[in-house]
Order: sequence, then structure tokens, then C-alpha cells
Amino acid sequence: MSHNLLKGKKGIIFGALDERSIAWRVALACHREGASFALSNAPIALRLGTLDALSEQTGAPVIPCDVSDDAQVAELMQKSKRRWGGVDFILHAIGMSPNIRKSKPYEGLNYKWYHQTLEISAISLHKVLHFANEEGVLNDGASVLALSYIGAQRIFSKYSDMNDAKALLESIARNYGSRLAPRGIRVNTISQGPTKTSAGTGIKGFDGMYTFAEKIAPLGNPSADECADYCVTLFSDLTRKVTMQNLFHDGGFATAGISEEMIADLEALYSGKDA
Ligand SMILES: NC(=O)c1ccc[n+]([C@@H]2O[C@H](COP(=O)([O-])OP(=O)(O)OC[C@H]3O[C@@H](n4cnc5c(N)ncnc54)[C@H](O)[C@@H]3O)[C@@H](O)[C@H]2O)c1
Repeated sequence: MSHNLLKGKKGIIFGALDERSIAWRVALACHREGASFALSNAPIALRLGTLDALSEQTGAPVIPCDVSDDAQVAELMQKSKRRWGGVDFILHAIGMSPNIRKSKPYEGLNYKWYHQTLEISAISLHKVLHFANEEGVLNDGASVLALSYIGAQRIFSKYSDMNDAKALLESIARNYGSRLAPRGIRVNTISQGPTKTSAGTGIKGFDGMYTFAEKIAPLGNPSADECADYCVTLFSDLTRKVTMQNLFHDGGFATAGISEEMIADLEALYSGKDA
């Protein structure tokens, strides 16, 4: 059901790859709430052709952009400026680690790939904000959101160099947020619980991490659609004074210790194994 929370707002949504992508679900929710927006992804991802269906469904143009390339980010902002004059929201839902893809352990990272992880997953937020600002694309009162993970604060071994990327991403959101605040522009990160998407399930051990979080989070793991609804509230005018925050959207995982169910499971598993 629409609440028209984004009626008349314009935006840019980065990172919709397929139906499971969080950005895909955010695009559907923003469309439902009355926003118009551009969809952007790396040219190589667009070759899959899946984004065309979302573009048709939402009436959103697709603008290719590899965020590791300054010129492409600048061009995207120039196109957005020409089309809309200015935008009211941006979603950064971009993450990639060649080291994870190629199963490099954290102690033996390939440094070229490590740099790519940081460039694509974190520094790109700085770049998007820099070129949006330089081209005068961000309207006063705009809201910028990036998606993070609790690996920024706690060590999840299988998340490897993405833990570092998320820590940097959250820091960039705070730092840029402080600089754009005089114009009422908000910059936040949402720390989403494990979600079964292409990026998520590409991590070895993801199913175990998903189940662990599901068992500990009092409200259970959030879906991509639930994340999308949360994003809508942060793009809306109802959250005008929320900025420079990392907001946990994880069913309570970040502050929960252990669940009763897990205590019972662990007791059964390890009963009689104590020395
Ligand atoms: N899935 C999870 O469990 C989870 C949890 C917390 C946070 N997140 C974050 O949510 C965001 C979206 O991920 P997702 O889970 O929806 O997976 P996804 O694979 O659907 O989205 C990742 C996107 O990044 C894009 N991308 C990669 N390299 C790029 C580049 N050079 N230029 C432009 N785009 C590029 C991909 O094409 C893809 O669309 C990521 O930042 C991810 O880290 C995911």
C-alpha cells in the first residue's frame, strides 16, 4: 500500500542487479511511494539485461556507470542534472570483493584486489557525493543512503576485506554528512542483516552466518523488501534531522547476546562434552 511518502521526489538508485537485489526492492518501493528515479549499474552488469524489466516496470531510465571510473560517475551526474535539474535521494547499494570471490584469506589478500574492494564498495560513495555536489545535482534537503553490514564493527571472518570496506563506507558517510548538513542534506548508512542476494550468497559460509543471525535476532533477519521500506522512510521528509548515522536494520541482532533457542541448541550439542 502506498503512503505517497516520496511523491514528486527524484532520485538515483545504484546497484540493482536482479530481482533479489536490495536496490531492486528499493526501486519498487520508491516507485510505489511516488518517486521517479534513474537506475544505474556497471556496464558489465547491464549486459545481463535483467535490469530492463525493472526499468519498464518503474518507468526509470537506465544510466550505465562503473563507479570505479571517475569520468563515468561525473557523466552520470551530468545526465541526471540535464534530466531533472536536481535529485532528492541517492541509494548506494554497491559491494564487491575480488578477494572473497577468489577465496583469498584475509592474511593473504591480493593487494590489487584489496584496493578494488575498497574502491568499489566504499570510496565510490565519496566519489558519488563529490561529483553530485560538483555538478550541483543534490537538492537542498536531499537524503543519501549507503548499505552497510555489521562487519564494520565486529569481525565476521568470512566477510574478509569487506569488513574493512564497510568500516570505511560508514566513515565516509559521517564525514561527508557533516559537510553537506548546512544544506539540510542527510548522509546515512543502513546496516542490513544477512539477505539472500547475489552479493550475499557469493560469500563462502553465508548460509551459516544467515542462520546464526536468524537465530539470535529477536525479530529475525530482515528481508530485502523490509530494508526497502526502511530506505523509503529515510528518503522521506519524515526523517529530516537524521544524519551521519549507521542505522541497524537487523531484527535486533546488533544488541542481542544469545537467544533462548540457541542456548538450548548449544546445550544439547555440547552436553557431556565438558572435561
Ligand atoms: N546481502 C546481504 O546480506 C547484505 C547485508 C548487508 C549489506 N549488504 C550490502 O547491500 C548492498 C547491495 O548488495 P546486494 O546484497 O543487494 O547484492 P547485489 O549483488 O544484488 O548488489 C551489488 C551490486 O553492486 C554492483 N556493482 C559491483 N561493482 C560495481 C561497479 N564497479 N560499479 C557499479 N556497480 C557495481 C553489482 O552490479 C550489483 O548490482 C551492498 O553494498 C552489500 O554489501 C548486503
